[in-house]
Amino acid sequence: MSGADRRYNARMLERVLAWIDTQREASLQSLVEFLKIPSVSAQPKHAGDVGRCAQWVADRLRAAGLEPQVRPTKGHPIVTATNVYQPGRPTVLFYGHYDVQPPEPLEQWVSPPFEPVIRRGAVVARGAVDDKGQVWANIQALTAWQQVAGGAPVNLTVLIEGEEEVGSDNLEHFVAANREELKADVALICDTGQFARGLPAITYGLRGLVYTEIFVTGPDHDLHSGMFGGAVPNPANALCALLATLHDRDGRVTIPGFYDDVQDLSPAEREEWRTLPFDEPAFLREQGLSAGSGEVGYSTIERRWARPTCDVNGLTSGYQGPGAKTIIPSRASAKVSMRLVPDQDPLKIVTSYERALRVRAPANVKIEFARHGLAGPVIVPRAGRAMQLAAEAVEVGFGVKPRLIREGGSIPVVALLRATLGVDTLLVGFGLPDDRVHSPNEKFDLEALHAGTRTAAALYQKLAEL
Ligand code: BES
Ligand code: ZN
Repeated sequence: MSGADRRYNARMLERVLAWIDTQREASLQSLVEFLKIPSVSAQPKHAGDVGRCAQWVADRLRAAGLEPQVRPTKGHPIVTATNVYQPGRPTVLFYGHYDVQPPEPLEQWVSPPFEPVIRRGAVVARGAVDDKGQVWANIQALTAWQQVAGGAPVNLTVLIEGEEEVGSDNLEHFVAANREELKADVALICDTGQFARGLPAITYGLRGLVYTEIFVTGPDHDLHSGMFGGAVPNPANALCALLATLHDRDGRVTIPGFYDDVQDLSPAEREEWRTLPFDEPAFLREQGLSAGSGEVGYSTIERRWARPTCDVNGLTSGYQGPGAKTIIPSRASAKVSMRLVPDQDPLKIVTSYERALRVRAPANVKIEFARHGLAGPVIVPRAGRAMQLAAEAVEVGFGVKPRLIREGGSIPVVALLRATLGVDTLLVGFGLPDDRVHSPNEKFDLEALHAGTRTAAALYQKLAEL
């Protein structure tokens, strides 16, 4: 890009930012519309809403001057969009997701999950921060570029999917089948968080995920526990015993080979994290806790960002209603997920997990497994021009330089883009640690929405210099 182009884009950015500043209220109203659509990807009863949400996203991308397409998959649709191709300019692939986690337990919401309200400077609704608010910040930034300058100064490929929260199963095939179309110089994802309020961050590492379900069956119907108890196998007892074998006393996971491929933390990285302004008592208090838990020998930040884990996410068996019902349940099941770190291989881990539980299970119950999604762990390059430009954009948006952090959550597409297209991702997110991601009363701070929109606008200018 010529010096004149660069100066022109920088001048335009000033006007784009001014436009964003004047549109704060209208922008929030659009986000509220987006949040009202209950696009819960995991629940079949919401399939129609998920489709409607894809259409809403496509319409907004069209209004931002892009050419959108709603593309069917075996599951929920993927929305793509491109702008008018500008030869000689870099291509940015923006990825986000318009699906959300189930809102349950509903009774714990202060206001209904799909009726957004503003409380204490934040918009409260399922999907507020994960990921609708952050997707919206980007669409609004692109709308601003369209209004002020007739479009952003980079080539854009937008990819917004509807199955991220259920493991992105159909995305792998989509990316592989559309390699040419999705080729980019860099990918951008705004689906992570700040380190703390006023301390924005760029994330360079995410954990991977293996999500499994185990089903244990004993008798072929529920039995009177007085007539049969003690004489027949109880699948609930068997499942609890099995789950109790997954960790040792030091909080380490006992699946054979689980730690074989885990990269040790470098002393330099550990030191860097020790100097982050992390208030551990406040972190625990925020979750209603006074003590943490985890693998012996690692700090809370290390446990969350760089150590693999195994957790029960759901547990079902027997009578769940009020009062007592004396039965030996016929079936018991548990949803168990494992967070993985570089260089663990999801397939290797899930295979070893299933084998270990089969070996440990008593012979008198039947064991079956289901897999609900695999995601690879990732580290993206910390050095390099794209990272530098992203840091400058965050400074434009927030007025301070970002920290470089890792996070414990997973975004399956990041490993996918690296493996299939050789593209690295910039993870620039605006959430706050107390946003209650995946919990009741999820929120997105309005200051974060505004600073995030400005950051996104700056990113589309800075990345033109790649
Ligand atoms: N936005 C999150 C990922 C995330 C959470 C990143 C917290 C950084 C901090 C994302 O939408 C998510 O929740 N992903 C799922 C992926 C899974 C279903 C494959 C996750 O991490 O549980
Ligand atoms: Zn998300």
